[in-house]
Amino acid sequence: MTVKTLKDLLDEGVAGRSVLVRSDLNVPLDGDTITDPGRILASAPTISTLAEAGAKVIVMAHLGRPKGTPDPALSLAPVAAKLGEVLGRNVQLAGDVVGQDALARAEGLTDGDVLLLENIRFDPRETSKDDAERLALAKALVELTDMGGAFVSDGFGVVHRKQASVYDVATLLPHYAGTLVAAEVEVLQKLTTDEERPYAVVLGGSKVSDKLAVIEALADKADTLVIGGGMYYTFLAAQGVSVGNSLCEESMIDTCKELLERYADVIHIPQDVVIADSFSADAEARTVSVLEIPDGWMGLDIGPQSVERFAAILSNSRTVFWNGPMGVFEFPKFSAGTKGVAEAIVEATGKGAFSVVGGGDSAAAVRLLGLPEDGFSHISTGGGASLEYLEGKTLPGLEVLDGA
Ligand code: 3PG
Repeated sequence: MTVKTLKDLLDEGVAGRSVLVRSDLNVPLDGDTITDPGRILASAPTISTLAEAGAKVIVMAHLGRPKGTPDPALSLAPVAAKLGEVLGRNVQLAGDVVGQDALARAEGLTDGDVLLLENIRFDPRETSKDDAERLALAKALVELTDMGGAFVSDGFGVVHRKQASVYDVATLLPHYAGTLVAAEVEVLQKLTTDEERPYAVVLGGSKVSDKLAVIEALADKADTLVIGGGMYYTFLAAQGVSVGNSLCEESMIDTCKELLERYADVIHIPQDVVIADSFSADAEARTVSVLEIPDGWMGLDIGPQSVERFAAILSNSRTVFWNGPMGVFEFPKFSAGTKGVAEAIVEATGKGAFSVVGGGDSAAAVRLLGLPEDGFSHISTGGGASLEYLEGKTLPGLEVLDGA
């Protein structure tokens, strides 16, 4: 692939030019409070570099999954405030996506100004399956720029989406990969070529169906595939064991049975779990063998013996990819499994292993559980995007940058 980068754009000169930047600022919110600003921090360098170089920066981003119509609960207002704080410069928020307010503000930009458009998914054309509709929005976005406009793709977390601000805009303007996209791709490339062995993959999270493709892709590559989190209980059910009220995807039981047989030497699953009598932070908790989950109880974390066994595997690995928590880490009683596994990965990293945390919940867990962020080689901002990359899928938002 030949992809132009931010450096190429800077070399061409950006002072006075309008630059549309797609960032992934989709951060978790509790009301108006951002609970993990990781994606804003990771997106700041590209925006800051462009503003410093005198570009008129117009940032496009989404928050959550609004239904193609404005939803005040998903306004980017808290994100604009945080981005301004991180950049140390004023960030204007347009009241709409490509409406009168966005147009007026874009026209009024001077060199070095930063304008954030309102949640791009408030416009139904952003996520439309109809090419013409998406292209119409992309054209309206391009109209916000002056002559000489450019597009910088820096929202790594959305490059697996064929959406107007990710894909179609790149077909209309000279396009460049931002520093975050370039860095993420470089790391993922390292995980797919010449990985140092032993190579361990840790997968958690709630649904097997979401992770099936990545399990199949990585079980063939890795030496060990450790499975925990909510999705484990479907594997347990596949062994004919009662899982009580634990999460279980009935429709995936046969598939899990087949995976356990096919990858018997690679897949490692827990032998003990922490169970709860209800799904709540103050539920009664007990540690039991996986063969002894009583009716009415649910598994919310892996148990200490499993942590010990997984940690022994991980701490001696040379390459580790981790996606998905081992339990409900947001509840302190059920966070030990995720913490233990993460600490083993930190230990491996300390011994020279190359470790990657694959976005989303696992990245949030690192920060929430107070683990050192620099204890991992890389913490990705893309959950779904990094998984699809490792599955070997073509990511539209990357493919479109080729041949700039
Ligand atoms: C993410 O949270 O993984 C990205 O922001 C993409 O969001 P989406 O899954 O709603 O497209």
